[in-house]
Amino acid sequence: MKTLIRKMCQTFGPSGNEEQIREAIIGEIKDVVDEYRIDALGNLITVRRPRDGNGQRVMLAAHMDEIGVIVTHVDDDGFLRFAPIGGVLTTALIGARVVFANGVEGTFGVEGKPLPTSNPDAHSIFLDVGAASQDDVPVSVGDAAAFRHQFADQGGRLIAQNFDDRIGCAVLIEALRGLADTPHEVYGVFTVQEEVGLRGATTSAFGIAPDVAIAIDVTATGDTPEAHPMAVALDEGPAIKVKDRGMLAHPGVKRLLVETAQEHEIPYQLEVLEFGSTDARAIQVTREGVPAGVVSIPTRYLHTPSQMVAYADVQHCVQLLTALLSYQIELAS
Ligand code: CO
Ligand code: ZN
Repeated sequence: MKTLIRKMCQTFGPSGNEEQIREAIIGEIKDVVDEYRIDALGNLITVRRPRDGNGQRVMLAAHMDEIGVIVTHVDDDGFLRFAPIGGVLTTALIGARVVFANGVEGTFGVEGKPLPTSNPDAHSIFLDVGAASQDDVPVSVGDAAAFRHQFADQGGRLIAQNFDDRIGCAVLIEALRGLADTPHEVYGVFTVQEEVGLRGATTSAFGIAPDVAIAIDVTATGDTPEAHPMAVALDEGPAIKVKDRGMLAHPGVKRLLVETAQEHEIPYQLEVLEFGSTDARAIQVTREGVPAGVVSIPTRYLHTPSQMVAYADVQHCVQLLTALLSYQIELAS
């Protein structure tokens, strides 16, 4: 699975620019699903039909997009100004590298002192793609760039710039691959524009009208020095969401995930995240409402260009989802 994870993480796709990552996912999944389509916003909607079906319409969602920056201005000397795409941390920009769709790379500088010693103001940061003048700049206003850093496999722990949410994409692909049989009509949806407001999940969930939905996304941990208290740690298993800032998970979905983990002896932890949200928030409130929950991959250093996950957690997330889809779903609330 590490080859798949590496491929997901090294493919370009900031919000609104998901073409390359979508093609990569189609290549991985087209032989596993019964059909797939791309909707008007760019969501990749795959369908796996039941072999003998009296199950439900289950939507699993992982977002394809990643955070990045978009060019707003090019000056006479060839320096670029930019706006964030999604929750970009100003503190994480200095020393970071970004790449555009055409392969051009850039690095960041700060106005004033050659070595910024305090937290720079966002507007004092510029992007340098190595151009000598405005005419020499190989990208344009409106072009988006994603962070680019090397993928690291350290055995039990992995580091990449965009586990949010390429690790969720890898988990969803692998869960669908491992599914021997299912009574359900399973919609594996790779959504667009999550990082700018859950937009792909909003339209895809409305179109699919699922009976039950689960988002697969990253969550924070409380296992680093002086961390804000949070009862989630690497290597302790999938985090089953109870609450984040955008949603309360449906109690029946939460309970179903917990019971499935217990029955299959898959380690798990309960997640209460005090910030952020996921596609499940948009899915939960579509139409007349959809019972929704989240399986989260515990991730350190979210929204920085060097995020860390535990490989065992990733594998346990796959096992949990495959187990869940293999049986009838009863949702007592
Ligand atoms: Co995110
Ligand atoms: Zn995410």
